[in-house]
Amino acid sequence: MAGEALIGVYRRYPVAFVRGEGVHLWDDQGKHYWDFLAGIGASSLGHHHPRIRAALTESASLLHTSNLYRIGPQEALADRLSALSGGMQAFFANSGAEANEAAIKLARRWGRERGRTTIVSFHHGFHGRTLGALAATGEAAYREPFEPLPAGFRQVPYDDLAALREVLAEEPVAAVLVEVIQGEAGVVVPRPGFLPAVAEATRAAGALLIIDEVQTGMGRTGYWFGWQHEGVVPDVMTLAKGLGGGVPIGAMLARPEVAEALRPGDHGSTFGGNFLATRVGLAVVDWLQTEGLDHVRAVAPKLEATLTGLARRHPERVEGVRGRGLMWGLVLNRPSAPYAARALEEGLVINAAGGRVLRLLPPLVVDVEAIGAMGEILDRVLAQDLL
Ligand SMILES: Cc1ncc(COP(=O)(O)O)c(C=O)c1O
Repeated sequence: MAGEALIGVYRRYPVAFVRGEGVHLWDDQGKHYWDFLAGIGASSLGHHHPRIRAALTESASLLHTSNLYRIGPQEALADRLSALSGGMQAFFANSGAEANEAAIKLARRWGRERGRTTIVSFHHGFHGRTLGALAATGEAAYREPFEPLPAGFRQVPYDDLAALREVLAEEPVAAVLVEVIQGEAGVVVPRPGFLPAVAEATRAAGALLIIDEVQTGMGRTGYWFGWQHEGVVPDVMTLAKGLGGGVPIGAMLARPEVAEALRPGDHGSTFGGNFLATRVGLAVVDWLQTEGLDHVRAVAPKLEATLTGLARRHPERVEGVRGRGLMWGLVLNRPSAPYAARALEEGLVINAAGGRVLRLLPPLVVDVEAIGAMGEILDRVLAQDLL
C-alpha cells in the first residue's frame, strides 16, 4: 500500500493533492477543493503564487552555501524583519520548533549570567516537537511519552495571571513563552488585557517575554505580528509557517541587548537562512507590505461574518466562533474531527484542533468568492449529525 514505508506518526486522510492555484487544490482523482488550511498556516500566499514562483526561479542558480559565508537574501530578510519589529535581530532556522528551540537557548544563555533558568509557558500551548520546544509545550499528551524532558520548565493555565505571578515570585524565571492566540489548542483567544498583563508581570520579575508568533505572525491576524494588536512588545519572538509561503523556514528575533547573549559558536544550523528560504521569505514580506496586509484586513470581516452566520444557523452544534484576522475556530459542542473529515469529502480543506474546534487558516490571498463557497459547504456539513 502507498505510504507503507513511512513511519506512522501521522493519521492521514486518504487524499493526495497534486496541484494548487491560489486557494484551489486538486487531488490525484481530479477532484477540486477549497483550501482553508494553507498547509496549517504555512502557504500564506496560496499555491503557485507568481511572487513565490519568481523567488524560487531566482534561487535556482544558488540554493545553499552554509552560514560559514555571508548570504545576501538572509541579511536582507533580517533587515526587513528588523525594521518591522522595532529593531530586533534575527537568527534563521528551518521550522517553528527550531525557532523556539533557539529562543529557549537564548533565554537560558541570557539567564545564566543572571542566575535565572526557568522557562514558563502555558497549559494547552504548543511550541513544537523537538525536546526543548516539547518541554515548553503545555499539552501533557505530547510531552509525557518522551519524558524525561529537559528540566526547568513550568506550565501555568492560560488566561490565569495569578498562577503566572506565583511562579514568577517562586522561581528564578529566565523567560515566559506565550502565544497571542493558542492555535493548536483550538484558536483560543485570551481575554482582552491578558497579554499586556503577562508582559508587565514578566518585566517586573526581570524575566524575558518570548512571544511565539509561529502561527499568528506574518499577517495571519491582520497585523505583521499578533502582539501589535495587544500593544505589547516582546523581547524575543519566533516566526515560521507563513514567513516561508510554503517553503521551510523559521526565525528567532530578539532585541539586540538580549541577542548579544548568544556568541559565535553558541548556536547554528546548516540550512538555516539559506538563499532559497530567505529569498522566498523576502517575497512574502514584499507581498504583505505592498498589498497583502491590506487584503487581509479587507477580507477578514467577511470571513468572520460568514462564520458568525454559520454559528447562528446551527446553534444545535456550534457553540461559538473565535479568532482574529484570518485565523478562526468554530467551537462545536461535540468532537470536530468527523466534521473536518466530512468537509474534506465535500471539497473543503479545514482541520480539527483542540478536540471540539474546526480551525480555518486560509491562505492570506483568500477572496470573497472562496469564503462564500466555504460557507455553503460548511452549512451543509454542520446540518449533519456526525460522530
Ligand atoms: C504556535 C506554534 N509554535 C510552534 C509550532 C511548531 O512549528 P513546526 O511544526 O514548524 O516545528 C507550531 C506548529 O503548529 C505552532 O502553532
